[in-house]
Amino acid sequence: MNISDGELMEGILASEGYEIVRRPEEADVVLVNTCAIREHAEKRVLGRVAQLNGLKSDRPELVIGVTGCMAQRLGETLLQEAPYVDLVMGPDGYRSLPASLERLGTGARPGPEDRKRGGEGHPRRGRGGQLTVLDFHPAENYEGLEQRRTQGPSAWVPIQRGCDHRCTFCIVPYVRGGEKNRSLSEILSEIEGLAERGVSEVTLLGQTVNSYRWEDVTFAALLRRVARIAGVRRVRFTSPHPNDVTPDLVAAMAEEPAVCEHLHLPAQSGNDRTLKRMLRRYTVKDFLAKVDMVREAIPDIAISTDIIVGFPGESDAEFRDTLELMRSVRFDEAYTYKYSLRDGTPAARLPEQDFVPPEQAQARLEELIEVSRGVQADINAAEVGRVEEVLIEKPGRHEGQVLGRTRRNKVVVFDGDESRIGAYTRVELERTTGATFAGAETTTGVPAVPV
Ligand code: 5AD
Repeated sequence: MNISDGELMEGILASEGYEIVRRPEEADVVLVNTCAIREHAEKRVLGRVAQLNGLKSDRPELVIGVTGCMAQRLGETLLQEAPYVDLVMGPDGYRSLPASLERLGTGARPGPEDRKRGGEGHPRRGRGGQLTVLDFHPAENYEGLEQRRTQGPSAWVPIQRGCDHRCTFCIVPYVRGGEKNRSLSEILSEIEGLAERGVSEVTLLGQTVNSYRWEDVTFAALLRRVARIAGVRRVRFTSPHPNDVTPDLVAAMAEEPAVCEHLHLPAQSGNDRTLKRMLRRYTVKDFLAKVDMVREAIPDIAISTDIIVGFPGESDAEFRDTLELMRSVRFDEAYTYKYSLRDGTPAARLPEQDFVPPEQAQARLEELIEVSRGVQADINAAEVGRVEEVLIEKPGRHEGQVLGRTRRNKVVVFDGDESRIGAYTRVELERTTGATFAGAETTTGVPAVPV
């Protein structure tokens, strides 16, 4: 989502006459886009911003902006902690980026035509000429704004922003506001345009992507429409909420050849009491029923997940239930996190004595990672010998090698020339490190899906 937001900001600025440069040393404006989901991500931002401030000694007119969820969360406080920051802008403010930069007296000097297209926004000037743009715009669905994407075969396509759930650990609803869906026609015409430019893989993005709805069009219906766009060969989506994994959605995934055999389905915990206190609104049994439904329709599907350990009040026995979930579902991949306290979220108000000590949370994380790596290594070892359709994505680490991804989202490295990036081929999986594969292109063997 953050990569996608960065592309959106670049698109907005480029359409107003700004030139995007790759190095801060060449820039008049540097924007640091941020995430607020865990404390770790935020800590790194302050260091980065302080480092960028070094550039101001030579060029005092340089504008440093902090955008995104951490900017939204900290607001004015950020200006106190980092007084050399000129602009603090939350995710609903991007439309007014050009107007805000103009107010700060910098950047492309837009002509009168461009100026008319500038967004409204309600920037407020702080002390010392700093600007904060933190208003929520519940109707902002980024209509008419174009992302600026780098060349390549794959594209992120946001279809929804914000979230209507209130998972008690999560900061997202407080920094991105409620769920806002993009119109069906905007999404389809954007993807048609991408396909015409040679993009063949799209990933639909949303905080709870499968709760998407536009008038009477459900996510399942949208998925079918996207999958049928000429030139679109692979469709993925992230992240769905288990409760909105419906029979309709599973049917669309099973029946549309372009929808990849991969599902990222965040479980968060394998214990009912914890899930309840997380306000996830499903039980372990419900989650397992969703997994069964998906596997029954798409037996070969790869399933990945997100897990949080050390949620306040999680007992050792409850943590063991999460290990049990890992072993029973056998996730192809698990993204594992230690609970990180986020001020303003309901879980932050749980009794302090219930918080899991950091060493214990760390030990749980390590144990979970070990189990999940073991499961992953077993699954992948059993896949050696398969022939898979691979989309070549980028150069490999070594000269003469390329890296690609199978439909089931597994990474494969094999000998090949960089000029083939964007091409589809078939690859025999020859070895696995546990997490990724090494393979070789082959013209024999039957891939799961014809190449
Ligand atoms: N602490 C730890 N992990 C979190 N996530 C969200 N909020 C927190 C938090 N406060 C994780 C969830 C989510 C993923 C994107 O980040 O697992 O699915």
